Amino acid sequence: MSERPVGTAERSERAADTGRSGAGLVTGAGSGIGRATALAFAREGARVAVLDIDENAAAETTALIEKEGGDALAVSVDIADEDSVRAAVESTVAAYGGLDFAVNNAGLASHHRRLDNMSLDEFERVVRVNLAGTFLCMKYELPLMTSGGAIVNIASNGGLYAIPTAPAYVAAKHGIVGLTKVAAVDYAPDDIRVNAVCPGPTLTPGFEQVAEGTDMIARQAAITPLGRLATPEEAAAAAVWLCSEAASYVTGIALSVDGGRRA
Ligand SMILES: NC(=O)c1ccc[n+]([C@@H]2O[C@H](COP(=O)([O-])OP(=O)(O)OC[C@H]3O[C@@H](n4cnc5c(N)ncnc54)[C@H](O)[C@@H]3O)[C@@H](O)[C@H]2O)c1
Repeated sequence: MSERPVGTAERSERAADTGRSGAGLVTGAGSGIGRATALAFAREGARVAVLDIDENAAAETTALIEKEGGDALAVSVDIADEDSVRAAVESTVAAYGGLDFAVNNAGLASHHRRLDNMSLDEFERVVRVNLAGTFLCMKYELPLMTSGGAIVNIASNGGLYAIPTAPAYVAAKHGIVGLTKVAAVDYAPDDIRVNAVCPGPTLTPGFEQVAEGTDMIARQAAITPLGRLATPEEAAAAAVWLCSEAASYVTGIALSVDGGRRA
């Protein structure tokens, strides 16, 4: 009897058929961690659907991948909209014939304020995109995943402990970690792994926008044991590893990529 899990063998056969390391999608791949993740998968030989609400940004990522000789497809999506998510996942599968990996990365930050100063509208906006958006992506990805496939949800260090004055973001990111664990257990019988990556502060366009005009980058570096912020590529590497066969027995974890902040 083969020692390889059945799903893994099936996935390898499909990848061998196409001469590539499978196919999948990355949401929010027009910028930051998502763009770095899409590029990293493409460098591994995977075909990557680049999903983003910003069509120009998605096209830029696709162009970067193609410039390196990779195979990519730009797909417009608003992860907070169910019809849009369904259509984006289905068009990825129509183009690539299956889904071996999915990285649900798209998300947004919230204004910094204490809970009693936050409107319900602001709370619901942040939870809608970050948490309900991740739920919707998983809802339409899971039934179309190849046996042996893997999902990674990009949560945050704020999915594991408090970030002061970020109640909606922290609640949403804790929710993503919870969704990840339940899906890992529910879909293990289908040989689909589901994990979360919890980055600490990472130098992306999104983070730089929030930090603009403040000493946030220096302050965050000072309280990080490794003494600096992460690069988007460092978060991307964790996502690629979790989707690889090297992580074939890893499911249901929330992996910190935080320079030692949680130690
Ligand atoms: N940068 C950090 O310090 C950091 C730390 C922890 C977690 N994260 C998480 O990592 C993820 C990526 O963050 P980043 O810093 O790379 O952000 P970013 O702002 O640089 O990029 C986010 C991308 O997501 C897209 N997007 C936003 N809303 C969308 C929607 N509704 N549908 C589809 N696409 C949408 C944007 O257009 C953009 O291209 C987010 O979930 C974020 O919460 C980031």
